[in-house]
Amino acid sequence: LRIAVVFGGRSAEHAISCVSAGSVIAALDPDRYEVVKVGITPDGGWVLAEPDQRLAITDGKLPEVSGGTAVSLVGDPARRGLAVLDPGAAIGPAFTGVDVVFPVLHGAYGEDGTIQGLLEMAGLPYVGSGVFASAASMDKEFTKKLLAAAGLPQGDHVVLRDATGAISADPDLLDEAARERLGLPVFVKPSRAGSSIGITKVTDWAQFPEAVATAAAVDPKVIVEASVPGREIECGVLAGVGGALPEASLPAEIRLRPGVDWYDFSAKYLDDSVDFDVPADLSPEQVAAVQAASVRAYQAMDCRGLARVDFFLGTGPDGRDRLVINEVNTMPGFTPISMFPRMWAASGLSYPELVDRLVASALD
Ligand code: DAL
Ligand code: MG
Repeated sequence: LRIAVVFGGRSAEHAISCVSAGSVIAALDPDRYEVVKVGITPDGGWVLAEPDQRLAITDGKLPEVSGGTAVSLVGDPARRGLAVLDPGAAIGPAFTGVDVVFPVLHGAYGEDGTIQGLLEMAGLPYVGSGVFASAASMDKEFTKKLLAAAGLPQGDHVVLRDATGAISADPDLLDEAARERLGLPVFVKPSRAGSSIGITKVTDWAQFPEAVATAAAVDPKVIVEASVPGREIECGVLAGVGGALPEASLPAEIRLRPGVDWYDFSAKYLDDSVDFDVPADLSPEQVAAVQAASVRAYQAMDCRGLARVDFFLGTGPDGRDRLVINEVNTMPGFTPISMFPRMWAASGLSYPELVDRLVASALD
């Protein structure tokens, strides 16, 4: 099977996508798959990656797609694949047919329905959610709306919009009443981003304007979320095999080491500042509740193939567990330390088996 693994891309999560792709490629059995490595440069050029393309964080240095032979997706359902472009020339003679695409892309122009639309247009099967689920899950505002409609509990939040309803990065749009209701701290986030890029934890309203500007630099749509106290729990979901219901992994927990304030980009990928419990130390009832909510979230968002659902597990005013969904990731991290493959490994599915299953679900 010839599989195009697409990585990098125009989003702020470019480097993380490269690292995820490195792990996915390493897990694809060379006896079964011929891998075509397709990189997307930060400015949007598609290339056949050089053999020495670095796909790991080395000495704290993030990888980046820089060179390679230019390629273009062939938008022709009868002739599915990539045209290898002669640098500077029109479409060259080379054509690489591919059977399936694994868009290991995080964030904008990758996890948000855009490449999914391109692949639909080209008639190429691909791993993961389709256009709508990708776009809706990428946007924290619409994720919350759809999850709320399915009766899944959400944290309190406000999207900054002006009087016309247009998104706006004017910090004064969060009025006194909203500030009082949300309370401090709040998390100010780009609505459509990932890996905690552009997020500020605001503990004093004086920091708020700068936090809004930081978020708006990543995405003009800014969402302000109330802090939800609780343990950080994540759970993987995979499409069922042969028409079966989607299946949830064992959940995992992220525990911050003392002195670490929150699970930001450095804590996620660079520092040794968090402990991951895979699986999480939860009661059987808690595991069942997390798994059921994960599958419901996956269904509510119309996901396909895979998703990772992130939660806060706290205590409600009645003293009972309160499970709040933070977000749904349609292309969760696949880096060596990422939770999704590790949760599945803990659930009995090895990394190579996991990628096999994802490819199979794309071709289903
Ligand atoms: N957005 C990152 C890659 C994640 O959710 O794992
Ligand atoms: Mg995310």
